Amino acid sequence: MLSAIILAAGKGSRLNLGYNKIFYEIKNKAIIEYSVDYFLNDDAFSEVIVVVNEKDRQRIKEIFKGKDIKIVLGGITRQESVHNALKKTKGKYVLIHDGARPYIDKKDIENVKTTVIQNACVLATSIKDSLAQVKFKKIHKYINRNDFVALQTPQAFETSKILKAYDLADVNNNIYSDDASLYMQEMQDDVIMLEGNELNLKLTTELDLKILEEILWLESGYQKMFIL
Ligand code: CTP
Ligand code: MG
Repeated sequence: MLSAIILAAGKGSRLNLGYNKIFYEIKNKAIIEYSVDYFLNDDAFSEVIVVVNEKDRQRIKEIFKGKDIKIVLGGITRQESVHNALKKTKGKYVLIHDGARPYIDKKDIENVKTTVIQNACVLATSIKDSLAQVKFKKIHKYINRNDFVALQTPQAFETSKILKAYDLADVNNNIYSDDASLYMQEMQDDVIMLEGNELNLKLTTELDLKILEEILWLESGYQKMFIL
């Protein structure tokens, strides 16, 4: 009944490792393995779809050799990658997750799994810094941070509805950086916000990489020096 789509078809250009960041290894395990293994080990999921680009397809096959994943080719943008995967998704409900987020909190996933049966939903955290709108490098407008949240993944939907939303976004030529916003805007339907865990960060920069090293090592009880 539940499908998981895990996105890995990016380039990781902001991290600039010279290869796709989802292959970076922590504790002898590629970043992408953390989330894929989690969903593979959860019996509630009848399929785990990993979205990859052509260049990385072979490496992904090797990493998950003998494991029951479906591989789908991604596109130039995250939106295209998700759309390609949704066309191949069989479950009634789908959780869409960034493969670049290796820290998975079981409590949060259970919350998403329960909520999606009734409502589209997304994990989100509050904003800590002050926010401002900027124009020409000047503060343009005060923004109340309490009106905003940071959206994480997984983001979860009824599969037929999110596929329809993606089709509509294509027709309307609208581009989004996440699925919940696309769904809300194109379907004019509610997406419930669920409190997420700050440790569920998306590997994007060098600092994220160092923090994730700490988080994932500490999880296994190993004390590691935080060297910045
Ligand atoms: N992603 C994808 N297909 C794309 C672009 C991104 O499947 N065409 C995936 C990435 O692999 C990542 C997730 O979407 O797991 C979130 O994207 P992001 O953090 O932006 O990753 P990259 O696009 O790889 O990084 P960058 O933007 O720095 O190049
Ligand atoms: Mg990107």
